[in-house]
Amino acid sequence: MNRRNFTQLLTFGAGSLGLGAQNQDETQSTLTDDLQSEEEDARLQRRPSHLEPVNVADFKALARSKLATATYDYISTGSADEITLRENVAAFKRIKVVPPLMRGVSEADASTTALNQPISLPILLAPVAAQRMFHPSGALAAARAATAAGTIFGVSSSAGSSVEEIARASPGPKWFQLYVPRDRAVARQLVERVERAGYQAIIVTVDLGEWKDADRRNRFALPKEMLVKHLRDVGFHQVSDQMSDQEVNEFNQSAWDLSLTWEFFDWLRSITKLPLLIKGLLRQEDARRAVSIGLDGIIVSNHGGRKLDTMPASIDRLAEVVEAVGNRAEVYMDGGIRRGTDVLKAVALGARAVLIGRPYAWALAADGEAGVRKVIELLAEEFLNAMTATGCARISDIEASLISW
Ligand code: FNR
Repeated sequence: MNRRNFTQLLTFGAGSLGLGAQNQDETQSTLTDDLQSEEEDARLQRRPSHLEPVNVADFKALARSKLATATYDYISTGSADEITLRENVAAFKRIKVVPPLMRGVSEADASTTALNQPISLPILLAPVAAQRMFHPSGALAAARAATAAGTIFGVSSSAGSSVEEIARASPGPKWFQLYVPRDRAVARQLVERVERAGYQAIIVTVDLGEWKDADRRNRFALPKEMLVKHLRDVGFHQVSDQMSDQEVNEFNQSAWDLSLTWEFFDWLRSITKLPLLIKGLLRQEDARRAVSIGLDGIIVSNHGGRKLDTMPASIDRLAEVVEAVGNRAEVYMDGGIRRGTDVLKAVALGARAVLIGRPYAWALAADGEAGVRKVIELLAEEFLNAMTATGCARISDIEASLISW
């Protein structure tokens, strides 16, 4: 297996069949954390499990207690030395909130819009793969929770359920995240299905390939049944349960286009009218290019520190991208959102909204749909508290002057 293939396996549905048997109980985990120092982590583990979670870190601890080590690590760890993973969180901690006094605000309204879709709060669910490994209801539960919270569900190409199943599970707004099949006929049919199922936008993730030591050490693998379903859900009908592990694995390795260029968007634009977002962008010149070709949204992201280690924190690149884009497209960010104050900081720096990945993956593992509802609710409460504490009655009141960095 060459490096390209290996990376590809970890990108799409996390399938690593053929790397070795999935043996979650005998895994050796690095368990490197992104949230806290070792000291804080010890505190988390002392937290009695019967207590109601009150923050994202509590959900992380609950997920750790419920999941097999390899699955917990798949969600939680980052690439290589996890410098980017930690930096995503640390960068938010470095930015300070400096509240102006006496602005007469005791209630705040967090509602806003994302690509013209009204949402209750500027927190979206990021596309996350393999959700049925975290909870039997997987992405269907997450979709219902997003709808209940009045926000948008970013549906991964590798979510574990088909676009139609997810659309049927809940009526709320959804954006489909596309990993691009090499066979453009399959890609086109997928996009057409996404449109028919009522999705409102397409996110193209361009930072492809995960490179995580923990997953290799743990030999993390999607069970064959899930990988076959994932490939069939995308539209690869030639894949079947009758194929051997190796055949499915080899098919997965060759199915995806890992050599995208900007011209891909011309093709995508020619086959769909849906708004298009690019996810994985960190540089100003790429942002200029994205708006020059008419993309509707940009998601400043380093894939949650799962791809190339030592990339900078997304929040540290946000302001530059916002400056380059102006009002020609909407700018979003993800990576490291763990608190309502993080949301405030991102909005203050020009984000239309943020996306969360691990926080809801942990909550899904902890308590299914109820867990995801709860984690969004906790972040919403923290965010509303941050808004009133800084005298912001509306999202449009949140300005860069509220923060110091
Ligand atoms: C992801 N992410 C991701 N991104 C994407 O475009 N397609 C995908 O299938 C996945 N899969 C995935 C699985 C898991 C378990 C995680 C944690 C993340 C990245 C995700 O969309 C987002 O960029 C990050 O999760 C944001 O960082 P935080 O919120 O996890 O710190």
